[in-house]
Amino acid sequence: MTARGRFITVEGIEGVGKSTNIAFIRKTLEAMGLPVLVTREPGGPEVSEAIRAVLLSPDLPGMHPDTELLLMFAARAEHLHRRILPAMAAGQWVVCDRFTDATYAYQGGGRGIPQERIATLEAFVQGDFRPDLTLLLDADVATGMARARSRGDADRFEQEAVAFFERVREAYHALARAHPERYRIVDATQPLESVQAQLAEILCAAAGEGTDG
Ligand SMILES: Nc1ncnc2c1ncn2[C@@H]1O[C@H](COP(=O)(O)OP(=O)(O)O)[C@@H](O)[C@H]1O
Ligand SMILES: [Mg+2]
Repeated sequence: MTARGRFITVEGIEGVGKSTNIAFIRKTLEAMGLPVLVTREPGGPEVSEAIRAVLLSPDLPGMHPDTELLLMFAARAEHLHRRILPAMAAGQWVVCDRFTDATYAYQGGGRGIPQERIATLEAFVQGDFRPDLTLLLDADVATGMARARSRGDADRFEQEAVAFFERVREAYHALARAHPERYRIVDATQPLESVQAQLAEILCAAAGEGTDG
């Protein structure tokens, strides 16, 4: 029988190094002999990517926060049922660039949607499915924004004000405090080698956990 794979999410504000480090996470897990599927939110399967295009388009400003929230969870439902759960059932380790915690951080902390409304949709779409491990890459907003700018064009979220990202970051810290069992915070202002050394340690521990269970 194939063991169920794990679900690892990578979170943090823009420019902290999620994409950069996900490539490293994949390599590290594969080196341990684990089959890996890398994916992202909003996105994944075709329908979810189409919703992502709507969500991130700078040509569609002023979307109502409730609409944004529902689109996020619509994309997530498709992603979860069509991609994440089937991959895990087949024994793959799924590494996801953002997940529901990003909804709490951006639509909740950033836009001010009450947490309970998000929790209602989380329960509707996910039941009690949650990540096994959440890696929070944490950096001050100035560092994140400088890195994101050096990368090129701003999308709709990257055009938000500094105060917005401060709220998003604080919401991530609150989530980490609320869910210490699955959260690991990595200081992303460190040089990349130090960030990755720390990630490798965390992944090593995760791979060793519950392998007989
Ligand atoms: N620890 C680091 N030190 C310096 N630069 C970094 C570090 N991590 C990532 N970067 C750079 O910052 C930019 C943004 O990284 P990226 O992985 O795209 O962030 P995210 O996906 O979180 O928005 C990239 O140019 C990347 O090379
Ligand atoms: Mg990225």
